[in-house]
Amino acid sequence: MRDLAMAFRAIHPRTSIGHSYKTNYIPALCELTYAEGAYAEVVSGMEYDLALRLKAAPQRILLNGPVKSAQLLERALLAGSLVNVDSLQEVEVVRTIAQRYADHTLRVGLRVNFALDGLKRSRFGIDAEGEELTTAYSRLTEGGNIAVEGLHGHFGGDRSAASYRDRTTRMVALADRLFGTTPPKFIDVGGGLAGRMPDALRAQFKKPPPTYAEYAAAIATPMHERYGTGPDAPELIVEPGMGLFSDVLEFICRVAATKTIGGSRHAIVTGSIYNVKPTLNAFDLPMEVVPTERTTAPSATWVVSGYTCMEIDILHSGVHADLAVGDHVVFANTGAYTVVLKPPFIDTAPAILAVDTDGAISIARRAETLDDLMTTYPIA
Ligand SMILES: Cc1ncc(COP(=O)(O)O)c(C=O)c1O
Repeated sequence: MRDLAMAFRAIHPRTSIGHSYKTNYIPALCELTYAEGAYAEVVSGMEYDLALRLKAAPQRILLNGPVKSAQLLERALLAGSLVNVDSLQEVEVVRTIAQRYADHTLRVGLRVNFALDGLKRSRFGIDAEGEELTTAYSRLTEGGNIAVEGLHGHFGGDRSAASYRDRTTRMVALADRLFGTTPPKFIDVGGGLAGRMPDALRAQFKKPPPTYAEYAAAIATPMHERYGTGPDAPELIVEPGMGLFSDVLEFICRVAATKTIGGSRHAIVTGSIYNVKPTLNAFDLPMEVVPTERTTAPSATWVVSGYTCMEIDILHSGVHADLAVGDHVVFANTGAYTVVLKPPFIDTAPAILAVDTDGAISIARRAETLDDLMTTYPIA
């Protein structure tokens, strides 16, 4: 996170990072990024309450997402969190809250939506290409106690630096249109960035994914060119999930069985696709074999599959390795969307160990038990 922030701050010093809780909300990780100055970027009441439980100051919480209850909006706004409004309906709910609490100033941003080259139109945010965005801005600012502090945009599907330059430039132009000569307090370009990864994964991308420095050049440069470094320069916020957390975890499991079926070598492991890539993407994560004591370990191309009864439970489609029952296998880059998306399907979730910079090991999460899963069911 420090490296990402440094790359951006070298161009636009007022850059902040939002920790996308949905990507990985292991408390120890949230506490670490918060201590480094990151906002808690949350998208539900559950995530909002988790951030508070982890002692995030309400003013350091960004509340995003397409569905927020009126109660959550009221709680967050009154506590001083920044709420990025996603629809005209939400605008009206915020207005009602503002009318009821005339002595409060409510902090909001507008999540914007516009067409980007090669991408299907997103369903999130308020259409900036028609009248809706201007309507939202004027409805919010009419009453006097809602501060529209900035613009938020998150467009998944294109990780290229060129796309980020384009979307940032477009957001700066939109800010000029809405805010006139007084710049907004922030421009938040969302997440969607690629992160650090081993070469074996990088090689599977059609085009090499940009580095942090390339993203910084693409995003922070249009900000710097428009706003300079003066005290009124808006804060640039980036909220990478995948781009920050992919490489914070490795998943380790064991080879339980090997077999040959129709000429293909299969290694069945004690993990599942839901542990290493529950988004079911087509990438093969880099995998390393840690041998146990063994006499033979055939060198072959192995299909590595998991403990569930789904045919799709393939952790690696073909890895060339010496491998035998009892060996451990280690999957790299399993930090994003894994812990949060692992379902209680067929088996419980494993423990997560945290390794300190000095090598000290602690438990970041104990292994889940059947009792954990059953607590919400009324059984005797
Ligand atoms: C608003 C917002 N910010 C940040 C992220 C993180 O995205 P990614 O993991 O692609 O960086 C998401 C993901 O959906 C999002 O919706």
